[in-house]
Amino acid sequence: MNKKLFPSIAFGLLATIVAGGAISSCTKSAAKGSDNADIEARVEALLSQMTIDEKIGQLNQLTGVGCTPERVAEIRSGSVGSLLNEVDPDTVNALQREAVENSRLGIPLIIARDVIHGFKTIFPIPLGQAATWDASIVEEGARVAADEASSAGVRWTFSPMVDVSRDARWGRIAESFGEDPYLASKLGVAMVNGYQGDDLSKPNTMAACVKHFVGYGASEGGKDYNTTWIPEPHLRDVYLPPFKACADAGAATFMCSFNDINGMPTNADTHLMRDILRGEWGWDGVMCSDWSSIQQMVPQGYCKDLEAATEAAAKAGVDVDMMSYAYVSSLKNLVEQGKVSEKVLDDLVRNVLRLKFRLGLFENPYVDTANARRFFTESNLAAAQHAAEQSAILLKNDGGVLPLKEGVRIAVTGPMMDAKHDQNGTWCFDLEKDKTVTVLEALNDMYGEGKIVAAPGLTYSRDTNAAGIAAAVAKARTADVILFVCGEEAVLSGEAHCRTDLTLPGAQKEMLRQLKATGKPVVSVVMTGRPMAIKDVVDNSDAILYCFHPGTMGGPAIANVLSGKVNPSGHLPASMPKASAQAPLYYSHKNTGRPAEGMMLMDEVPLEAEQTSTGCTSFYMDCGDGPLFPFGYGLSYTDFNYGPVVLSSEKMDAKNGTITASCEIENTGSVKGATVAQLYIRDLVGSLCRPVKELKGYEKIELAPGEKRTVSFTLNADDLAFYNAANERVTEPGDFQLWIAADSASGEAKGFVVE
Ligand code: BGC
Repeated sequence: MNKKLFPSIAFGLLATIVAGGAISSCTKSAAKGSDNADIEARVEALLSQMTIDEKIGQLNQLTGVGCTPERVAEIRSGSVGSLLNEVDPDTVNALQREAVENSRLGIPLIIARDVIHGFKTIFPIPLGQAATWDASIVEEGARVAADEASSAGVRWTFSPMVDVSRDARWGRIAESFGEDPYLASKLGVAMVNGYQGDDLSKPNTMAACVKHFVGYGASEGGKDYNTTWIPEPHLRDVYLPPFKACADAGAATFMCSFNDINGMPTNADTHLMRDILRGEWGWDGVMCSDWSSIQQMVPQGYCKDLEAATEAAAKAGVDVDMMSYAYVSSLKNLVEQGKVSEKVLDDLVRNVLRLKFRLGLFENPYVDTANARRFFTESNLAAAQHAAEQSAILLKNDGGVLPLKEGVRIAVTGPMMDAKHDQNGTWCFDLEKDKTVTVLEALNDMYGEGKIVAAPGLTYSRDTNAAGIAAAVAKARTADVILFVCGEEAVLSGEAHCRTDLTLPGAQKEMLRQLKATGKPVVSVVMTGRPMAIKDVVDNSDAILYCFHPGTMGGPAIANVLSGKVNPSGHLPASMPKASAQAPLYYSHKNTGRPAEGMMLMDEVPLEAEQTSTGCTSFYMDCGDGPLFPFGYGLSYTDFNYGPVVLSSEKMDAKNGTITASCEIENTGSVKGATVAQLYIRDLVGSLCRPVKELKGYEKIELAPGEKRTVSFTLNADDLAFYNAANERVTEPGDFQLWIAADSASGEAKGFVVE
């Protein structure tokens, strides 16, 4: 133990703390309650030594500028508690040395970074990971990320993002697990577990940061940072559950969102942070602001100046001020004036110190330089490739054009065919381009250059210069099958990268039209950061493989799927629209009083038709209703037959009943493959209108040709509950329906009654 850590602690207390010694292991449940008495004692002992300036310093998070004299002075004076964006292990150690050896109390820094879908070895974007519907893949990806990033000194990542995202215009849908609260909860927990491991004090873990608390995915119009209107029952039914699941799993930190909800910025929302998160859920982790989000309450029109914003955030319970310089500039004054109590300040500091103890930073403040930079290992690359293979979604396969037949000549074309930067997607600060393997490279490797002809046609996704298309089409004519690798560049999705046009950008649509006109079979591989409106791709392709930006090993993964070495099993984690203006679009919508029926579309409407002659139901005249491909959808190179659903009973007790639903699934095709069996329910009548379907369970199963297996799901009364108008969680008696199906739009409903 470094002597500087506790310079003047009374001996008895010091003895207790040292006896705590190597902090007893911080299990996954450690962030749930103050059950770790050793840590609490150490927190109190340290807190009692701190000046008000040192306390505020622990709450101050700054971005990295290297080991400059100014930064060293700030660290030595104790006015910075954590740093984001320092990723060089030697610099991290130099800065840490200033904190541990040259500041009065020797409190270590936490080094943070946005490690969102991999640090060096990049996995598919989170939306792509969600397409695997496989929590073990998501957990493994986070484990790899934690091992790589911690070997550079990063012990806190700002991930997972569990914002339920139902609007494909919103660029941040790329960072999410998609539109469904149940799926986002399962995968969010898996990611937390992967980052934090079973003992957060081990040096190869990172504290997870579950973000953005909360409702950010509802940003009006799919425009980033926008306002949201979310009634509390809806917030509790849809937006809060993934956060609750991650809090229960012991997520060490959360981050506030940029948006306001119903006019209240989340950074000032005492009800959210104190009543719900810390009160109802009993969570004792660190709440971090988003980048300068405390200061942003001024332009938001909620606070008149930075001091008012500081007061609001501190009182609401924002522990860490990321880059607003609000707490360092105003909090002392507020405490001295009595506007913020010392108790409030101390509680914020306690949370930060507790995290530092939980991370084992007092014992292991430095990166082990002999074991640093554990990047791109064979097993990490294999895990990334497996994740990319499992995330590929087969949307169309007419005439069995895929898998590619032996000996075919393949024309590889399109702006994403060799896009080392762009196939990695958003949030790849630490990307090494030359480690990325593209589709073109992988196919050349797999088939030999003699079997491949290649020309990009367009040099990047937004390219409108059609000059190269003719050459690509000419090459395509010489091949047996055309592979059009299209999509969106990385920069078109992610934070602040929202779009109103969800179709392929640039001249890609025109290029595809010309490729189709060759008469050769066209396979489109679509790499994007969001569900796009690809009706024209469907019309002009024989097969479509949809790959959310797949990461470092995207090329070999896609080559394996195209060649049939891997049978695709990805399923959509978000609905794909027919037209951009359908956004927001999600399967779990309300029925309306006039659900779509007898739709007469614009082109069918006679001249001077009577106002009501086209019917009065809920649809768009130019694209009807519903998605192009529904949530949960995904094909395979084999076929599955879902048998009838069998219920253990047709009645269920509303208080403590359970019901088991089973379904036999058979692989009726000729190759081994996996399907995702999905359980949906509908509460037909509620004291508030209920969605037409809600996902309540899923299981990914792999079957050999001819093999049958029965999947079973057991639901209890609470699984059927929702929040009523009084914000009470209730299971209301009445009629329900249930489906077990391969996507959210198929299957036969089976009824049961809750009494
Ligand atoms: C984003 C966060 C991110 C933070 C730190 C913000 O702009 O909203 O998601 O973690 O920056 O880089």
